[in-house]
Amino acid sequence: NFRDYIKNNLETFSRHQVNENDWRNFESHITYHKHEIDSEDSYINLKEQLNDFDAINGTRSNRLFYLSIGPDFISTISNNIKKSSLAADPKKDRIIIEKPFGHDKNSALELNSLLAETFEEEQIYRIDHYLGKETVQNILAFRFGNIIFEPLWDNNHIESVQITVAEEVGVETRGSFYEGTGALKDMVQNHLLQILCMIAMEPPASLEADEIRDRKVDVLKTIRRITPDKVAHYAVRGQYGKGTINGVEAKGYREENGVADDSNTETFVAAKFYLDNKRWQDVPFYVRTGKKMKEKQSYITIQFKPIPTSTFSHSPHQLSPNKLIINIQPLMDIRLQFMTKKPGLTLKLKPVEMVFDYFACDEDTPEAYENLLLDAIIGDLTLFMRSDQVEEAWDVVKTLQEFWENNKEESFPNYEAGSWGPDEGNALLDRQGHHWD
Ligand code: BG6
Repeated sequence: NFRDYIKNNLETFSRHQVNENDWRNFESHITYHKHEIDSEDSYINLKEQLNDFDAINGTRSNRLFYLSIGPDFISTISNNIKKSSLAADPKKDRIIIEKPFGHDKNSALELNSLLAETFEEEQIYRIDHYLGKETVQNILAFRFGNIIFEPLWDNNHIESVQITVAEEVGVETRGSFYEGTGALKDMVQNHLLQILCMIAMEPPASLEADEIRDRKVDVLKTIRRITPDKVAHYAVRGQYGKGTINGVEAKGYREENGVADDSNTETFVAAKFYLDNKRWQDVPFYVRTGKKMKEKQSYITIQFKPIPTSTFSHSPHQLSPNKLIINIQPLMDIRLQFMTKKPGLTLKLKPVEMVFDYFACDEDTPEAYENLLLDAIIGDLTLFMRSDQVEEAWDVVKTLQEFWENNKEESFPNYEAGSWGPDEGNALLDRQGHHWD
């Protein structure tokens, strides 16, 4: 039954058509083990089953434990794996842990030290699926595989950076999980900060996993910490009320299953971060994410500074700043906006775009999880989070998290489903003369 279940799912979801011969070969390797996570015997049985398999095949196979499970169960599983010596070979045995990795900095520290009792750091694969997205990985190639962008990649040339991950979906069937999580922990602490790291990191000396992860940790360390008295100045939280999305009526968050009538959980966050290092001093990094927003759209905008003295500074020439837009999803492209002469008898300027579009390429684009699971199988840690990365990321959001938990937001719900979030999210940029793209 389990094999059939896998085959049905492959046929439904795979990008490729299932080849019957390949499938028959593959399915002979699939077995099912019924497991109780708190029963020591289950782990012993599993080990025996794996040992038998190894004996038949004359090998010691790799073991990859994939924990897509609430953080509360991780200690039980990890301790039992240790007791049963199921993952005793640091070169062959690995564990994948899904987010959320803990629920704050302290719990992440505890989880890391608990895992360290059973696993070497090189065995631990902490997933952030945004790092597996083609468009996010491409930031590295775009920045460091070209000579023309990197000289402009600093506070002399860049005015601001925006990162938006807007979702059309609400909390769906996950209301009770989301009630205890909220957008800050669900999206900002991980996905948005990881994207920010890709944009802001210094060039790594090589593509070694630890070299890249070191450069990302450097970024997280330099993000200026927001103090409790400045929370309202640097960040905005929102919660959706009812509204309309694509002409269809949408429930408010408090009407979702598993959600409290007076919930204080945020479904929207906008925040402004500064990085205290030479390259990024004084450049605001705006991040924004929300559920039940107007459209599903994830993108990064790098807005360049205005030209200091311009040949075209007098009206009627309206100069738009140069922008580089990296669309992560559902559009997958890179757009460079620049000014050109509008064809005609008079000299007027207009902005145009130069576009690299993934969908125009012949190559087949893998899903984020395809990349990540394959990397975990072959033992490449580059796209996974190291313990210090997760801890620093929690540290970045710590004050917002504590302040918001301890101070109820009386204006909730403060944005309509199907909108771009609360007005305060726009005001965060307006006061510096910036606007969300
Ligand atoms: C998950 C969050 O990590 O990312 C979800 O827990 C969110 O709440 C999802 O919907 C978004 O992922 P994607 O790939 O659809 O943008």
